[in-house]
Amino acid sequence: MASEREVRARLQRAGQEHLLRFCAELAPGPRAALLAELAPLEPEALREHCLRAAAACAQPSGPQPDLAARLQPLPLERVGSVSRVDPDTRRSWEQEGFRQIALNKVAVLLLAGGQGTRLGVTYPKGMYRVGLPSQKTLYQLQAERMRVEQLARERHGTRCTVPWYIMTSEFTLGPTAEFFKEHDFFHLDPANVVMFEQRLLPAVSFDGRAILERKDKVAMAPDGNGGLYRALADHQILEDMERRGVEFVHVYCVDNILVRLADPVFIGFCVLRGADCGAKVVEKASPEEPVGVVCQVDGVAQVVEYSEISPEVARLRTPDGRLLYSAGNICNHFFTRGFLQTVTREFEPFLEPHVAVKKVPYVDEEGTLVKPLEPNGIKMEKFVFDVLRFAKNFVAFEVLREDEFSPLKNADTADRDTPTTARRALLTQHYRWALQAGAHFLDEEGAWLPEPPGLSPDEDPPAVCEVSPLVSYSGEGLEVYLQGRGFQSPLVLNEDLARVLQPQES
Ligand code: UTP
Repeated sequence: MASEREVRARLQRAGQEHLLRFCAELAPGPRAALLAELAPLEPEALREHCLRAAAACAQPSGPQPDLAARLQPLPLERVGSVSRVDPDTRRSWEQEGFRQIALNKVAVLLLAGGQGTRLGVTYPKGMYRVGLPSQKTLYQLQAERMRVEQLARERHGTRCTVPWYIMTSEFTLGPTAEFFKEHDFFHLDPANVVMFEQRLLPAVSFDGRAILERKDKVAMAPDGNGGLYRALADHQILEDMERRGVEFVHVYCVDNILVRLADPVFIGFCVLRGADCGAKVVEKASPEEPVGVVCQVDGVAQVVEYSEISPEVARLRTPDGRLLYSAGNICNHFFTRGFLQTVTREFEPFLEPHVAVKKVPYVDEEGTLVKPLEPNGIKMEKFVFDVLRFAKNFVAFEVLREDEFSPLKNADTADRDTPTTARRALLTQHYRWALQAGAHFLDEEGAWLPEPPGLSPDEDPPAVCEVSPLVSYSGEGLEVYLQGRGFQSPLVLNEDLARVLQPQES
């Protein structure tokens, strides 16, 4: 273990010696913990990190003046759409996706290292229950959508595995691993669930000093979901994929309740187009919607943040009335293993960190703990989508928001992306699936409930219906259970009920 003298000398070189200012008064245990936390920080890298954070934060933000002239929507030949395509083509994408899954060439990778500060829970977001009748957590819903393996097996008659890689951070690894163990890995084979940890970086004050959150602890934060690329290298994850024969990786965020793991349609589209990198997108709801836009800058594919685009440009429309810059990024990607290898080996150092200004609790000069009311600290984060520009053959794939995207970001006090909106999105989708499969819903007297002419994302559906992913992955195959039957709300179609409803073979 490094001595206090050694650590102090390294911190001096980094201009961060203040981190040891309470060291002398600490008991041996906390002092050792602080030294152990500080020892691995490389002096030059730490110096640069702190200077860079303060300088980046001092830069003016807002729309970039010269951006409009450099911006273009993606060329049409680079964009696929799940809804604006004929059924045969869609089916061919899906078939190809299932073929690759059956060949064991597809893996999924979950980004679950975030701290979920806006949601405000003390445990990983994946363990959150949005209040579904089944009380399932986000992690459980995702684990059960691994049913896609079963669907591939049924089509191709071969056993296959989709390994599930889960990137965590110091904040989420312990509880996530524990949670999976407690739930028996949701009946998945633990050998196919690979958890690994991303790095942390110190949070920095506006004047470029790393922040002490306690006398014996530096305020550290995960290095953003773009920390993925370093973490892949740190833990030899790509080598693990290679050993398993994985060629294609579906990367997604923990908080999208509708996410389709290893979506065969998306995978198949990307593979048939020969893409090395792909992004699922949804049509922006309005010019003002605060999502990044997938487009081109100087002819190169990128995600441009909404704050960088002027309102006039954001409002531009095509002759058919759609927004010109409509491709909303939902942080849901396809990568070939080869592309990830090139990124981790060559391009990762060129990814520019982004500045996030946050309220970071700290100890003041007297050693008193302060919970700031205003943002006081800078967290530097890399973004997973910043690698798009390195792709040789990038494609975007537009999907329907009501089918595939409803993120959980905020507590219920906010007006968007809350537990309520996520729960409603899932239950509305399942209600639609049930109607499409020929179910009717009944009121308390057993009379048919009228079907509404349309379903609004701002209202609960007229009846509660939740379909287990173990019964249906994306709405398929429900007719055998539901066709022509009437159900009272709530209908929870899980495996047990499915067995009861299934016609008996004579
Ligand atoms: P968000 O940017 O929404 O951040 O993450 P968050 O940490 O979950 O929530 P806030 O901002 O603190 O409220 C989008 C996705 O990226 C992952 C998150 O777990 C989520 O799946 N992420 C984020 C990481 O894996 N690592 C990070 O360092 C940050």
